Amino acid sequence: MASNKKPRLKDGALRRFLSVVLITLLGVVLLIFLLRTNPDSNLDQYSTDDDQSSNFSNFGKLNLPKQNDFSIFLEKRNLLPPRNLDLFPKLAKDHITIVLYVHNRPQYLQVVANSLSQVVGISETLLIVSHDGYFEEMNKIVEGIRYCQVKQIFAPYSPHVFPKSFPGVSPTDCKDKDDPIKKHCKGNPDQYGNHRSPKIVSLKHHWWWMMNTVWDGLKETRRHMGHILFIEEDHFIFPNAYRNLQILTALKPKKCPDCYAANLAPSDVNSKGEGWDSLVAERMGNVGYAFNRTVWRKIHKKAREFCFFDDYNWDITMWATVYPSFGRPVYTLRGPRTSAVHFGKCGLHQGQGEKVSCIDHGVANIQVEEIDKAGNINSEWGVNVYKHQAGYQAGFRGWGGWGDERDHQLCVEFANMYHFKNMSSPS
Ligand SMILES: *[C@@H]1O[C@H](CO)[C@@H](O)[C@H](O)[C@H]1NC(C)=O
Ligand SMILES: *[C@@H]1O[C@H](CO)[C@@H](O)[C@H](O)[C@H]1NC(C)=O
Ligand SMILES: *[C@@H]1O[C@H](CO)[C@@H](O)[C@H](O)[C@H]1NC(C)=O
Repeated sequence: MASNKKPRLKDGALRRFLSVVLITLLGVVLLIFLLRTNPDSNLDQYSTDDDQSSNFSNFGKLNLPKQNDFSIFLEKRNLLPPRNLDLFPKLAKDHITIVLYVHNRPQYLQVVANSLSQVVGISETLLIVSHDGYFEEMNKIVEGIRYCQVKQIFAPYSPHVFPKSFPGVSPTDCKDKDDPIKKHCKGNPDQYGNHRSPKIVSLKHHWWWMMNTVWDGLKETRRHMGHILFIEEDHFIFPNAYRNLQILTALKPKKCPDCYAANLAPSDVNSKGEGWDSLVAERMGNVGYAFNRTVWRKIHKKAREFCFFDDYNWDITMWATVYPSFGRPVYTLRGPRTSAVHFGKCGLHQGQGEKVSCIDHGVANIQVEEIDKAGNINSEWGVNVYKHQAGYQAGFRGWGGWGDERDHQLCVEFANMYHFKNMSSPS
């Protein structure tokens, strides 16, 4: 070791060094002072915003969990450029970005990836695959995609990435219905008395992290002004999905000013649509939904509602708290025939093998009729509005599973994550 060879600073050099340190310190203090007092600074944009999220704005002091090496590795990997830039160097000007969020069902993902390969117009856009956890088999499928630009992102704070500590399980955590005082364990039970389960909370965390990251974080999408379509690892996408969605998003402002989004599938996941010669406006569905940045800003402002509602399902949280808080009915516009099918529930229940489903040898048993192969929405159609549909709404207390303050905090930090890093970036 060369530790005894450390050169000693000569007096003059020491003085010069100290004055540089002093000047730097003064500069930093002055900068902080200016940023805090200048009313035009972009930081203040968030604190004077009329939204409640300003309540937990904390001037860059993010309180995210301490990352392990793997988490840091994933965060860096998220900065890699999309794949297939050689094949598809340019995105179409008015493209609708597609975000596919996945966990670990490779057999399903393969079906979805194959269905996307048949989608007319897919080569015009960017597909982002957002992973909850890191699984080689899942990566292989995504790496095999050659029909459009593809970018993978990995939730760096996924419970699946933290084997020994929060957001994963730590040895001192309470389990099930443990009494924190008697057991000397950590955690807050939900409204039904149950403690957090990392596997269960990971879905809502992933969704919220992904939304924040796609809209406000990623270089590729944070300035995207059009719509973004969100699909899941068990959504079969019809060949006409992209073209239909382009028509729907174009028709939306005229035909349905109350519509916040466009959907590929009916909100009733068992329905394939009515087959009418008419558009349909109904409550937001959770299969193939697309909205724009204006709507995202509205959702982001309701971060507290989202993060503190005691239900581990992101979609039920949206229906029961976020949408009702907009103060107006929240409709989505769709065609009369579905362009996406949720196949994950066909017989697959927790604990059962992957085989008990609509999938045989990796091929989904989903019939695509000739009429669903090309765009089949007529711009001249009127709109049928479903009013007062049944379903989760304001007043529902939630299914629980989301009572731990650490989960609330992490969720809130995801909403702050990209709002303090780059002071000059637009909101
Ligand atoms: C701000 O946060 C505090 C503490 O978390 C809470 O008591 C208060 O109600 C919040 N205010 C608003 C306007 O949300
Ligand atoms: C986004 O969609 C909403 C709801 O359809 C609409 O009111 C708004 O004008 C759209 N924003 C942009 C920038 O197109
Ligand atoms: C911050 O945002 C500005 C403009 O919005 C951009 O030019 C700059 O590259 C961004 N800096 C970083 C570090 O992302």
